[in-house]
Amino acid sequence: MLRAIDENTITDAAIEQMASTPDPRLKRIMASLVKNLHNWAREADLTPEEWLEGIRFLTAVGQKCTAFRQEFILLSDTLGFSSLINALHDKRATEAGTKSSLVGPFYRADSPPMKLGDTIVTKPSNGMEVILYGRVTDRMGKGIPNASVEVWQPDETGNYDLQKHDPSEMDLRGHFRTDSEGRYYLRTVAPLGYMIPMDGPVGDMIRAQKRHGYRPAHIHFIVGAPGYREVVTALYLEGDAHVDSDTVFGVTESLVTKVNQKDPNSPIPNLPSIKFDFHLAAATAKDMTGRVGADPSQITKAGA
Ligand SMILES: [Fe+2]
Repeated sequence: MLRAIDENTITDAAIEQMASTPDPRLKRIMASLVKNLHNWAREADLTPEEWLEGIRFLTAVGQKCTAFRQEFILLSDTLGFSSLINALHDKRATEAGTKSSLVGPFYRADSPPMKLGDTIVTKPSNGMEVILYGRVTDRMGKGIPNASVEVWQPDETGNYDLQKHDPSEMDLRGHFRTDSEGRYYLRTVAPLGYMIPMDGPVGDMIRAQKRHGYRPAHIHFIVGAPGYREVVTALYLEGDAHVDSDTVFGVTESLVTKVNQKDPNSPIPNLPSIKFDFHLAAATAKDMTGRVGADPSQITKAGA
């Protein structure tokens, strides 16, 4: 029987047609997407011109993506969506660990393996040298040996290697392993906060909303070990002007750290240092990745 389609019945009609989806998870995700997307259009009383503008915007977001740039991750981040997905991920853990934060659009897989104490600075730099150190532990504070610690960050001007004139060259990235006590330590330079890339459609959105577009200074980490839940996170520097108003909502109180000018416990005590211990929750059978983001080149490849 023909159904009368109106602004309300269309939602059930669309969900019913998708009911043949064999994968139960895909079926649930799509039904919920349709329900909420339709509610959004009804609530905002969206007009054809407005939705076409939305399609133009999403098209431009896709067109801006390359192997070195991921505008969709930036969109997800600036809408608070990545942060929401992180919070849901943290809630699924059976033990409390270090909180998640954003991968962001500047992650690269295959950062160079380094030895404890090495510097991740490979290009000439005027930045203030700092030591990052601490331990990777389980919930009870026991050190986890040979844990993987991937670190990446912008330089002292707030730029990542991917934003420099030859984005194929890596800088300010490294992949470390903790020692037998679960300790890590490395040298770097203090990062500067930065404005997210504003030369694309996401920048247009941020300007239209009169937002400042800044992220406070931070250093990204992915820390993991067999048997534990990988944590994707970032450390934020106390005192940054934007630490309370991050454009991508990555900051949470427990991830704010400070640069200590003199720390007798630092492995290199005559240099400024940042100490942070990462706590990993035990892995559960249901664990999935906590990475809300990826190396831009991997996403481009997958979509090709
Ligand atoms: Fe970042």
